[in-house]
Amino acid sequence: MRVGVTATKGGAAAGAGEVGSLEAKMSEIGLFEAMYTARALRKLKPDPVPEELIFRVLEAGTRAGSGGNAQRWAFIVVRDAAQRYKLGEIYRRGSDISAEVYARRGRPPHLSDEQFQKMMTAGAHLWDHMGEAPVLLVPCIESNTLPPREAFPPAIRARYNDLAVYQQLIRGASIYPAVQNIILACRAVGLATLITTNHLYYEAELRSVLGIPDEMFPCALMPIGWPIGKFGPVNRRPVSEVAFADQWGTPLVT
Ligand SMILES: Cc1cc2nc3c(=O)[nH]c(=O)nc-3n(C[C@H](O)[C@H](O)[C@H](O)COP(=O)(O)O)c2cc1C
Repeated sequence: MRVGVTATKGGAAAGAGEVGSLEAKMSEIGLFEAMYTARALRKLKPDPVPEELIFRVLEAGTRAGSGGNAQRWAFIVVRDAAQRYKLGEIYRRGSDISAEVYARRGRPPHLSDEQFQKMMTAGAHLWDHMGEAPVLLVPCIESNTLPPREAFPPAIRARYNDLAVYQQLIRGASIYPAVQNIILACRAVGLATLITTNHLYYEAELRSVLGIPDEMFPCALMPIGWPIGKFGPVNRRPVSEVAFADQWGTPLVT
């Protein structure tokens, strides 16, 4: 990807082409507005996404933190139609499994029947159209490797298996902040995207299509493109329901 942008002193990108107008566009939306309106828009126009924008949202992603500042991430930008078709087909089959799970789990209690149906219908559209998104982004994170057991003092050696489990548990914590930055950066420039994970039901196949090395984990499949629908307020459970003071069960908001 050749991109006509250069890093400025403050770390923001600036430079040739559309970047000036891009800056203007981004300054129109505040951070909180972006967070409150970055709905999961799943119907996308087929129009291509300029390389500058792809670069810019990836740059925003890579401003996120990661454990030990290791930054062991990689982002595969899939624009080739044949590759997108293959990923779309993998996502489709993964979604068939996911749909069975959702059907048996039922709607979360905070959603009305109508809200749940709306989400399922929007989700079902993506099952069939993932491969048509102009860009499919696959953020990957390297699995944490542990130094050998013998390298640790006896007390830690005795808990070596716990250490391995811990590394697995925190793996996503070093990539999902970058993913959320990408979602917000897309929102800022008017692009739709969302996290999806159904591809992981066929992880081996996806790895083979993209040539992902064993040590890297493809943690999400994100369609990116210009939305057909509109951004708008997201519905979430109120803070009063989900926040506790000092210990579990004591309401923060009284
Ligand atoms: C871990 C995770 C996995 C998700 N997987 C999918 C998916 O496979 N397909 C899909 O259409 N949406 C997926 N979503 C998007 C959610 O459905 C969406 O965030 C939720 O419905 C809220 O939507 P809203 O922001 O429009 O209110 C996923 C979200 C997360 C955080």
